[in-house]
Amino acid sequence: MRITIFGSGYVGLVTGACLADVGHDVVCADVDEQKVARLQAGDVPIFEPGLENLVRQNQKAGRLTFTTDIAEAVSFGILQFIAVGTPSDEDGSADLRHVLEVAKSIGRHMTEYRIIVDKSTVPVGTASKVGRAVAAELDERGVALEFDVCSNPEFLKEGAAIEDFSRGSRIVVGTDSERVKFAMRECYGPYNRQQEKLMFMSVRSAELTKYAANAMLATKISFINEIANLAERLGADVEEVRRGIGSDPRIGYHFIYPGCGYGGSCFPKDVKALAHTAKQAGYPAEMIHAVERINARQKSKLFEKLCLAFDGKLAGKTIALWGLSFKPDTDDMREAPSRELMEALWQAGARVQAYDPEASDECRRLYGNRDDLMLAERREEVLEGAHALVVCTEWKAFRTIDFERLRDTLLAPVLIDGRNLYQPDTVKAAGLGYYAIGRGDSI
Ligand code: UGA
Repeated sequence: MRITIFGSGYVGLVTGACLADVGHDVVCADVDEQKVARLQAGDVPIFEPGLENLVRQNQKAGRLTFTTDIAEAVSFGILQFIAVGTPSDEDGSADLRHVLEVAKSIGRHMTEYRIIVDKSTVPVGTASKVGRAVAAELDERGVALEFDVCSNPEFLKEGAAIEDFSRGSRIVVGTDSERVKFAMRECYGPYNRQQEKLMFMSVRSAELTKYAANAMLATKISFINEIANLAERLGADVEEVRRGIGSDPRIGYHFIYPGCGYGGSCFPKDVKALAHTAKQAGYPAEMIHAVERINARQKSKLFEKLCLAFDGKLAGKTIALWGLSFKPDTDDMREAPSRELMEALWQAGARVQAYDPEASDECRRLYGNRDDLMLAERREEVLEGAHALVVCTEWKAFRTIDFERLRDTLLAPVLIDGRNLYQPDTVKAAGLGYYAIGRGDSI
């Protein structure tokens, strides 16, 4: 099948590479010439395990190409995936500028039937807007061509995107057209062999499904963080509570890990956008607002714990940070708790020495060279001359520490564990001041 994908960002690239890998012919189009040139040379600009290999293999096999030529891209695939960014507007709504720009390009260049597939995370009602944008361009050209618009949200997690694409639990398609159903069955057939994963539903239901899934997961995280804060005040250990509730299959263990707040490019943006959609629909959506508020509060926890440990005297102190990315196995620092912590520390006159297995370059890009930030290549380096260590991200490499050595190296010595990675008794027995989430020390 011939498939075009607009947008060679995270979702577009993964979708393109995975669909090419099962034998489809895929053209990925992007307006960013530099990015396309890099991709043409087999250089993948984002860090995602396995993606670069997959891109290169399929390029070599001639099934995956990259272009900036929009007319060529429109004439290539019967399926035209839109996988461009939908950043948050100032009011929290999703900015559809790029999505509608692609829709217009398709209308401007198409010469035969096309199926437009909304892959980007877009608010309910966007497929209709896309349809109107395409129709307006066709009108302007004075041509009458048939097309369909369907919604096909993605549920990939960064760091596990290829696995999620290949072995995801469902493939949601919003459409009422038999022609679209037929084409989507062909497109996803190779991923639909073992069990029926395709779920056809109305366009609006598919659009809402995406937001409901992310908001539900964000709700689970904010809920456990709320319990963690309560546990601190009640002398309970949230990790014991987590195990206690997770063992009930109706609750389950997934997404109830307490921590320093959720980040990334999806949950914060999508929860905001859903709140905005609800407001527009005249519905107060109190739970969604609470999820957002709890998360904002949770992100300031690490700084508050440091204030508690140092009696509010952070000026002149040096704080070591392990983990800058919003979660492990990615270099993405969008809305990462580490950022809020670093910014608060700088504001308080403290220095930061940070280590992350992948995100140092991203951190340099975001904050540039500054005297109060040192980025190191090894996790031990940042401990030299530091008063405290804060673990912001649960990279696998942080799971074990020689606590005695840490105690001897740190000047204070204080360990703030933003992801509850360690056993409080073991850390405390080594003579370290230990502050975790929901395990004592209320603030
Ligand atoms: C999320 C969803 O999990 C995907 O299904 C969805 O497709 C994607 O958003 C999207 O809309 O594109 P992602 O943002 O890559 O994926 O990251 P997650 O693994 O879901 O983690 C999000 C945040 O929640 C991270 O900051 C993580 O540390 C935090 N988290 C996660 C917790 O604090 N506790 C948990 O128990 C789980």
